[in-house]
Amino acid sequence: MVTGGAGFLGSHLCERLLEDGWQVTCVDNLVTGVPTNVADLRQDDRFRFLQHNVSEHLELVGAIDAVVHFASPASPVDHERHPIHTLKVGTLGTHNMLGLARAKGAVFLLASTSEVYGDPLVHPQSETYWGNVNPTGPRGVYDEAKRAAEAFTMAYHRAHGLKTRIARIFNYVRPAYAFE
Ligand SMILES: NC(=O)c1ccc[n+]([C@@H]2O[C@H](COP(=O)([O-])OP(=O)(O)OC[C@H]3O[C@@H](n4cnc5c(N)ncnc54)[C@H](O)[C@@H]3O)[C@@H](O)[C@H]2O)c1
Repeated sequence: MVTGGAGFLGSHLCERLLEDGWQVTCVDNLVTGVPTNVADLRQDDRFRFLQHNVSEHLELVGAIDAVVHFASPASPVDHERHPIHTLKVGTLGTHNMLGLARAKGAVFLLASTSEVYGDPLVHPQSETYWGNVNPTGPRGVYDEAKRAAEAFTMAYHRAHGLKTRIARIFNYVRPAYAFE
């Protein structure tokens, strides 16, 4: 199962998973994704598309091996347009998807981001660096949501023994969007 599977990265991941022989359920509410990203994949009967907001409860029938949680607006333009949505999908959405993974005995993978470092004071950042984040700035909705998502993921791992993975996708150059 891939959340955010109709987005830029998620749709390529769905394609790759199908190529590798998996059955793929893509869950996406199309807030920033587009149906054309997965139009070709929908010809494959091993691919299932569900339009759903993962910040809301989701029950799925059948087995799931892995929940790959990519759902989140990713660009600063999208955070500015959807600030509350961005916070909800990183927090409530991550909690919901961890619960689903736990119920199914699935591995959980979170797509996190180098934005968890905020405006880092250390270059390059290593996993031992904890960042320099402004929670009240316009980017805070994304940075803090992803930090909470990582904390939820580790909490499920520690409290419930859930098999979890966190991938921090790096933007080496912090894009100069028009927030400042
Ligand atoms: N693209 C990058 O350079 C980059 C860098 C770091 C991290 N990431 C992370 O990778 C993931 C995918 O990024 P992307 O560039 O493909 O973004 P994207 O906006 O193209 O895709 C995100 C997808 O998530 C869906 N989505 C958002 N909120 C949802 C919700 N509540 N319920 C269901 N679906 C929802 C959107 O409709 C969209 O299809 C994100 O979690 C992002 O934070 C991306």
